[in-house]
Amino acid sequence: MVNFEVNGKQVMADIEEGTPLLWVLRDDLGLTGTKFGCGIAQCGACTVHVDGEAKRSCLLPVEEVEGKHVTTIEGLGGDGLHPIQQLWIKHQVPQCGYCQSGMIMATAALFHENQSPSDEEILARMTNICRCGTYPRIRAAIEEARAGAKKVLAA
Ligand code: FES
Ligand code: FES
Repeated sequence: MVNFEVNGKQVMADIEEGTPLLWVLRDDLGLTGTKFGCGIAQCGACTVHVDGEAKRSCLLPVEEVEGKHVTTIEGLGGDGLHPIQQLWIKHQVPQCGYCQSGMIMATAALFHENQSPSDEEILARMTNICRCGTYPRIRAAIEEARAGAKKVLAA
């Protein structure tokens, strides 16, 4: 039995040890906003926050989140939209959308840690893959977050 919190709700998962967190989120909890892409921790489609840090849930054994707080795209903004989601809409970032929850979760974690990331930090942290090539719009949204939304992001 693994006990943890997902989007503010306590979860008790009676699940085989070693099962990836992504399976529990999607198949047991019905939180299908987090996507399965590569399954080998390379593409970032499965990115969630664990105690505020971006983690790729496709290879993260569920027992490693025992006692921790997991946030998925469904819980990122609480009752509304997170500022990063608002910027994603403003810049019309998604195309097919498959990678985008992971992109948003990775970006939100980056700005929660550092509201003025350098170009190098952005490149080092934003390693998610988008098959549709939305990178220029992702970059535009990140630039606006860095330049103008710092107070909002800190809230
Ligand atoms: S599905 Fe997890 S990184 Fe690709
Ligand atoms: S928007 Fe289609 S994979 Fe990124």
